[in-house]
Amino acid sequence: MSADDDKRLAAQAAVDLVTDGMVLGLGTGSTAVFFIELLGKRMEAGLKVKGVPTSDASAQLARKVGIPLVTLEEHPVLDLDIDGADEVDPALNLIKGGGGALLHEKIVAAASKQVVIIVDEKKLVERLGKFKLPVEVIPFARGSVEKTLQDMGATVAIRMKDGNIFHTDENNIILDCDFGLIDDCCSLSQKLNGVPGVVEHGLFVNLAERVIIGANNQTKILKKP
Ligand code: A5P
Repeated sequence: MSADDDKRLAAQAAVDLVTDGMVLGLGTGSTAVFFIELLGKRMEAGLKVKGVPTSDASAQLARKVGIPLVTLEEHPVLDLDIDGADEVDPALNLIKGGGGALLHEKIVAAASKQVVIIVDEKKLVERLGKFKLPVEVIPFARGSVEKTLQDMGATVAIRMKDGNIFHTDENNIILDCDFGLIDDCCSLSQKLNGVPGVVEHGLFVNLAERVIIGANNQTKILKKP
């Protein structure tokens, strides 16, 4: 089984949680793509749901497969958010943002009654931090935030794409930070939230209720301890 097979399996199990009338958060990334495509198939068979997309890419795909899109103004509380992750620890804390959509992803997760994360088993770790932590920053603050992050112990690299500085859907930049393995993700999250110029970061602490893992032709579920 490839990682893609595992991602598809996890996505299928998440689609099975969706019921008629739900308003969903639609995540971003390769695993969320499987979810959105499979959800589209259920809609062809008669399911009726709406979605708030977490990126332009997910919005485009959702439109293509026939999922009606709504906004947080229309639906400030969502029934269920389904999204991928770059790392998941045993307490279901996450690193997200490898795809650059962490800001909208965190807003949508926080607005959802239930957050279900879908991953292949390679995303499971004992401690977060091998995956570099994405920190979304207002371009004006790049220099000062970079220095603050270095003073906090991180090695910092600005995210590039095709030879240019990567910009998020909100036109911010991303600093990918290597803090080493993170001892206390709650405390690091709070410190990062207090840095002027940091818009958001990829530590999702205490947001996921359930993680569906696709592994070797089966799914496993982790629930919040
Ligand atoms: C997007 O910004 C990310 O948070 C993704 O959810 C995360 O990177 C997982 O992506 P994959 O499903 O592609 O591994």
